[in-house]
Amino acid sequence: MELYDLLHNRRSVRKYTDAPITEAQLEMILKAGLLSPTSHNSKPWHFIVVRDREMLKYLSDCRVGSAKMLENAACAIAVLGDQDKTVCWTEDCSVALTQMHLMTEALGLGSCWIQCRLREAPDGRPTEEYVREKLGFPQNVRLEAILSIGTPDGHPAPHTDDELLLERIHHEKF
Ligand SMILES: Cc1cc2nc3c(=O)[nH]c(=O)nc-3n(C[C@H](O)[C@H](O)[C@H](O)COP(=O)(O)O)c2cc1C
Repeated sequence: MELYDLLHNRRSVRKYTDAPITEAQLEMILKAGLLSPTSHNSKPWHFIVVRDREMLKYLSDCRVGSAKMLENAACAIAVLGDQDKTVCWTEDCSVALTQMHLMTEALGLGSCWIQCRLREAPDGRPTEEYVREKLGFPQNVRLEAILSIGTPDGHPAPHTDDELLLERIHHEKF
């Protein structure tokens, strides 16, 4: 698929069938993350792959409402950044998330970004603390987001050029 078509087709997919994803697909998605550019080439990310159904259920409660799709996802990838490596860990994690999100689309899978940084769990704790309790990452390793992944149970319509906010493009001055 050409990149421009892929960018149109990429949507946030929140409903999945029971179909598992293969090891080969998972490897491609993770490699897409590892191929992402980082500030000063610092590569501050860590990726925690979760396939255990009970753990996916736990993670689906890391946010009020916004993470429910994890219950039925084939897998989740928690994307973390080592804040001791770079102040740009949020940007670096975001780029990796974007590349993995696009790779799922290229593979005929679907995924959704679940924001965790600066968000709260239903019990009032930061989502990061709620997730750290079970996934066990150290304090200096920070949680940016979780990518839910599965086989789409229906795919949202592709984006079209008609939606583009062309007025947001400024030339020479704002
Ligand atoms: C930084 C960021 C945070 C997001 N957080 C969530 C989230 O917590 N839960 C969710 O269901 N979707 C989340 N999304 C997906 C957006 O809602 C989605 O990208 C947007 O509505 C546009 O739809 P599309 O991705 O299908 O084009 C997030 C996306 C981004 C880029």
